[in-house]
Amino acid sequence: MSDTATLKIGNDTYTLPTIVGTEGERAIDVKPLRRESGHITLDPGFLNTGSCRSEITFIDGERGVLRYRGYPIEQLAEQSSFLEVAYLLTQGALPSPSALTEWEQRITRHTLVHEDMKRMYEAFPPNAHPMAILSAAVSALSTFYQDEVDPLDPDQVQINTIRLLAKVPTIAAFSLKRSQGHRYTYPDNGLSYAGRLLKMMFGYGTEPYELDEDQESALDKLLILHADHEQNCSTTTVRIVGSSKANLYASISSGISALWGPLHGGANQAVIEMLETIQNDSDGIDKYVRLARDKSSGFRLMGFGHRVYKSYDPRAKILKGAADKILAGLGQKDPLLDVARRLEEVALEDSYFREKNLYPNVDFYSGIIYRAMGIPVNMFTVMFALGRLPGWIAHWREGNEQGLPIGRPRQIYTGSGERPYVPVGQREE
Ligand code: ACO
Repeated sequence: MSDTATLKIGNDTYTLPTIVGTEGERAIDVKPLRRESGHITLDPGFLNTGSCRSEITFIDGERGVLRYRGYPIEQLAEQSSFLEVAYLLTQGALPSPSALTEWEQRITRHTLVHEDMKRMYEAFPPNAHPMAILSAAVSALSTFYQDEVDPLDPDQVQINTIRLLAKVPTIAAFSLKRSQGHRYTYPDNGLSYAGRLLKMMFGYGTEPYELDEDQESALDKLLILHADHEQNCSTTTVRIVGSSKANLYASISSGISALWGPLHGGANQAVIEMLETIQNDSDGIDKYVRLARDKSSGFRLMGFGHRVYKSYDPRAKILKGAADKILAGLGQKDPLLDVARRLEEVALEDSYFREKNLYPNVDFYSGIIYRAMGIPVNMFTVMFALGRLPGWIAHWREGNEQGLPIGRPRQIYTGSGERPYVPVGQREE
């Protein structure tokens, strides 16, 4: 039996149930508190608020542990494939060999988008940010399947899961081609998921595309590392939108918008821009560490710090090792990797970063690898979205299956008390 928590407000005492998770995480169930005491809990930014119970992903931020459905991220990145991880996350278990083959075949058969979708791209200015296009296009996808978007119908949920996993890479690659003024390259279903994505982004159709296997496997690994991260900003957005029984496409589109921000998925773009600025500044790294320490500067070291990890982000650890290997495989040397490594060394020795437990996060090294592959900087967050897709879908499905109530936080009102309306003609200038 779980313990209970006792809360004393004035002379009144309230007993609240507690909940213990599989890995020993503890929560106080505050649901009855307002009804019984008239108080709500106030926690802006949800720093200490659990919004659900979930079986999908476990993170121990103190020890740098990340597991999808119990499997350590290191083992999945080394031995699994992105499509298998997508199955694990969305379907709940690792697939049998035949289930995996069927899953891969089903996804591969749905890679085309309706030809009318292409006209939508033409409505955007050529320099439109691909995250804006991605979010709009994913929402628009629902209009092609309007009679099949019932969140409570398991068959419809499953086909929309397949469609999204299959079509979002096509949509993303088309948005890149559009921004370059190039002809769209259609999906080549003879290739792997990552291989197909690379060909759609970098193939021209006028000449054979030679797939680089190192890039293909690096991209697959990057997608796996981004596939889920429990209740982060975009996933919480997807769950909240889904809680209103909005369809899967609309919910995922909202998640893409949430991911776009520079404090979330947009950080990988911001990291490269920051490293370039440091590289071009003769004042060197120390200046930027000094700026980051000084709150009044408004400057933060992008790719450092994490709401949950208070030790090294395990994904950053994998990518740090991978960056060198991938660049060597591609026959490249990126001076930004040297800047990144030196910056990390300086920051990790610095008392400010040590005291606040600020370590590199997943975005610190991912951008360097994307850059080496020739992926333009404004596509980095799109790459993150492609990886996070199965996680978003898994959480949306779990929320639906749990039949959670609509997400609706409360507030403490701090505005004016009641006052009479003054007609415009009677107001002072
Ligand atoms: N550089 C300098 N100082 C920092 C940094 C940073 N990158 N990150 C946090 N701090 C400081 C804050 O100023 C704050 O100091 P204080 O306690 O004296 O007020 C303290 O560390 C805690 O920071 P918060 O912003 O309160 O921590 P929070 O958990 O809210 O934020 C976040 C986490 C948003 C990731 C933050 O570390 C940050 O802005 N990092 C840079 C952006 C980034 O890399 N984002 C990617 C996150 S990973 C992802 O989304 C995949």
